[in-house]
Amino acid sequence: MKHSALVLSACLMLSLSPTQAADDIKITRESLLTQPCFACHGAHGTSVGAPIPSLLGQTEEQLYTSLLAFKKGERPATLMNRIAKGYSDEDLKLIAKYIATQPKPTN
Ligand code: HEC
Repeated sequence: MKHSALVLSACLMLSLSPTQAADDIKITRESLLTQPCFACHGAHGTSVGAPIPSLLGQTEEQLYTSLLAFKKGERPATLMNRIAKGYSDEDLKLIAKYIATQPKPTN
């Protein structure tokens, strides 16, 4: 958990960077928990696909089901099984909901 705390601290510092307009920032528990996911899955979950699947357009239910399966070792994975284990079921639910409600890209 020490590592998660470091990641969260780093995200907090980045989010609070004075170079960003204060009006753009809305920090919530779910947004903090989800920021590390976007490093791999692209901004708002819009990676271009294999080997890192895009999360865009998936429902909260689909995302939560995948995350739980990774956590329990029921779905084969290179990375996600280890990542999902770092979160409580409740956190995974919050993360799934947060990703499913991300704005769709406009271009
Ligand atoms: C280090 C890169 C990395 C990070 C960070 C990461 N992922 Fe993943 N994710 C992957 C890879 C790679 C896969 C493909 C499965 C595998 O091999 O682990 C994947 C697969 C997934 C899938 C399955 C999607 C599908 O359509 O099959 C979901 C859902 C997912 N990740 C959610 C998340 C969430 C939520 C987080 C943050 C808690 C996260 N990922 C963080 C790399 C990452």
